[in-house]
Amino acid sequence: MQTAQFAVFGHPIGHSLSPQIHRAFAQQFGIALEYRTIDATPAEFAGAVERFFADGGRGANVTLPHKAAAFALAEQRSAAATRAGSANVLTPLTGGGLAAHNTDGDGMLRDITERHSVDLRGHTALLLGAGGAAHGVAWSLLDAGVETLTIVNRSPESADVLADAIGDPARAHTRYWEDLADIGSYDLIVNATSAGVLGVSLQLPFSLVGARALCYDLSYGAAAGSFLAWAKTAGARYAFDGLGMLVETAADAFELWHGQRPDTAPVYRALRQRAA
Ligand code: ATR
Repeated sequence: MQTAQFAVFGHPIGHSLSPQIHRAFAQQFGIALEYRTIDATPAEFAGAVERFFADGGRGANVTLPHKAAAFALAEQRSAAATRAGSANVLTPLTGGGLAAHNTDGDGMLRDITERHSVDLRGHTALLLGAGGAAHGVAWSLLDAGVETLTIVNRSPESADVLADAIGDPARAHTRYWEDLADIGSYDLIVNATSAGVLGVSLQLPFSLVGARALCYDLSYGAAAGSFLAWAKTAGARYAFDGLGMLVETAADAFELWHGQRPDTAPVYRALRQRAA
């Protein structure tokens, strides 16, 4: 019998940690699996996914720039995927077709509240960015009990679209990027822009960082470096990258596929040590 096949689709995808994470989870249960990276351009994505599942693929992770396309491909969508309009996990349905899930928001919350033991209730939150990554986490921040969610995006129209989709004007609203120096300080600042991934440093005022502030970058490694350095210089109490989020979102995918919950702590520790 063929070993169960899993994959992560992205473009580029060469440096993905997902194969390593899923193999480490599988070892915890003695599960045999093959997990590979599949590099597909946007034009190739739908065909590559179709081939993968037609060949018996049992589950796929999806990352940039395919999360919205993955959502569009699916016949069934989880509530989290539907509100984000994007998916990071695909599973085959019995009888054909795919189910789309989005575990980004839950993964980020577990990283913040469980791994780092920070309770977000009552926090004033600033979300930088309004693209796919921001859509993936915005609702979860509200679910976690933040008092307000201020969405600021370089192009204000996208921030408005996200705030309108949330539809909770008493808590979630937008401000202009140009006004960042004048909008006070926040307890939680989430960088959901792709600036770091693109090698660009955001020029952010230190005044955004409140006394108990937690600054969180959804990316990790070099891409998160500039934002975290800014946060530390500004005196943030906590400055975290998204490595823990990545491991948590992978654990959700693993549980969907294998019905077992892996222990994320040793896998996170090993990746963190390697990164250092
Ligand atoms: P992702 O899936 O990573 O969110 P995306 O949907 O393309 O990718 O969104 C990228 C986000 O990063 C957007 O909010 C984008 O702002 P615009 O909507 O104005 O393009 C933001 N972004 C990218 N580069 C940026 C920069 N140099 N400064 C500020 N925001 C930036």
